[in-house]
Amino acid sequence: MARIIDEISRTFSEYLLIPRLTRTNHHVSNVSLRVPVARFKRGSESRFSLNIPFVAASMQSVSGPDMAIALAREGGLAFIYCSQSVEEQAAMVAKVKAYKAGFVVSDSNLRPDATLTEALELRKCTGHSTMVITDNGCKDGVFLGILTDKDYWEFDDDLNRPVSDFMTTKENVVLGREGISLYNANMLLREHKKECLPILDDNGRLHSLVFKKDYVDHLNNPNESLDAKKRIAVGAAINTHDYKERVPALIEAGADVLCLDASDGYSEFQRDAAHWIRDRYGDSVAIGGGNVVESDAFRYLVEEAGLDFVKVGIGGGSICITREQKGIGRGQASALLAVAKERDEYFEETGIYVPLCSDGGLANDTQIIIALAMGADFVMMGRYFAMTSESPTPRVSIGGRIYKPYWGEGSNRARNWQRYNSDGESGLKFEEGVDAYVPVVGSVKEVLDVTLSKIRAAMCNMGSLTIREFSNNAVLTRISEQSFIEGGTSNVLSLDKDVLGKF
Ligand code: IMP
Repeated sequence: MARIIDEISRTFSEYLLIPRLTRTNHHVSNVSLRVPVARFKRGSESRFSLNIPFVAASMQSVSGPDMAIALAREGGLAFIYCSQSVEEQAAMVAKVKAYKAGFVVSDSNLRPDATLTEALELRKCTGHSTMVITDNGCKDGVFLGILTDKDYWEFDDDLNRPVSDFMTTKENVVLGREGISLYNANMLLREHKKECLPILDDNGRLHSLVFKKDYVDHLNNPNESLDAKKRIAVGAAINTHDYKERVPALIEAGADVLCLDASDGYSEFQRDAAHWIRDRYGDSVAIGGGNVVESDAFRYLVEEAGLDFVKVGIGGGSICITREQKGIGRGQASALLAVAKERDEYFEETGIYVPLCSDGGLANDTQIIIALAMGADFVMMGRYFAMTSESPTPRVSIGGRIYKPYWGEGSNRARNWQRYNSDGESGLKFEEGVDAYVPVVGSVKEVLDVTLSKIRAAMCNMGSLTIREFSNNAVLTRISEQSFIEGGTSNVLSLDKDVLGKF
């Protein structure tokens, strides 16, 4: 006979936090939002952590290279979507990795006989004004000189002349030797007041470039998510169908974290895929999976599949109609509380801590705060990031306001049959997601600044300086419909809602 879970399925908006003692050191400036992503043993460090508890969903309308770069610069991580060819996804990962590194592989290279016209075309194509002149015009050719936009006057010089007439030649360029540390490379730039340092190998061939602006940029963004080589960290979603081809390409491109992307992750497919990856790559890459909504599924993915982190949530996504279509899912708060309880028990039993990600349905900043209080180490969001300038969709004007398209991976538009059909058949027989629009709200940095300030303030109210302390200290109360209404404005004419809202 079917088992009925006694507790009703609840969601985040049904709860409020009760403040705990705020001590004098509980100041927002002392709060750390650093969270683990990969499982770890009690007393040791996670192999992969984030400086803010935010990841962007692996969705076509959310996580492209621009999102990955913008979010990682703030301390989070985006999962580049897998509902595209292996080559396209790997190229997106590689693009993120190439964005900024200590040692950048040059993407703007010319032969000495190339004309200024060709140089201008290359600049337009890459967006980079620093070009390297090598004997064969390749990124690892013999270094001859460097050309920047200070070396020529686009509207005055003869554009048919070769770049060799304009470049700063090798003997006048400050150079680094392959093997130099990043610190020493930056110090050379500083000493010689230069913007760019070409690094050459013993045979005079170009190895890489080091830019002053990258150094400055890093100091301006101390929270950045970086890999061991100081490149931007990036996640990549995978499915349980083509992982044997996809994973090697993603790892080769530099993916730091992989996530098995499925609406229901309680499956032997996820176990087999996780084993296959672990057997080949060991602990060099963090592997997450899901989604789950109860304790058995969590245990299975942790004990049988050995996942590093587990995503919680089925049917709560803003564009999701899984519950309507298949009758599958659970209120996100109930799901998270059940799985977090199991995670804590597992930690008590084994000393191994497995981070949880609350995925989908976070409709506002308050719900993000409640999710963290209920035991999520980090949250995955689609709609929140789809609304920013860095999401990969075009802006459209509707009724005088600016929107961006946002569609579910289970919609016909996404054609992501691997996420939804476990039988491996291509084509969707029914949709689990809708095609929608969301308002444009600003850059990733702008929206995060506000949300993170609220999280820090709430953490101080709860007498906590870390996310783990926050959830350990959390005391929550369920609220009635009446107290929910009481939480909004009452008995006043609100300037925003009642006066300006009428226009
Ligand atoms: P949101 O932050 O509420 O917009 O939810 C985003 C999450 O919804 C994603 O991370 C996925 O877990 C989930 N999701 C994405 N596309 C679909 C879909 O088409 N149907 C159901 N869930 C989806």
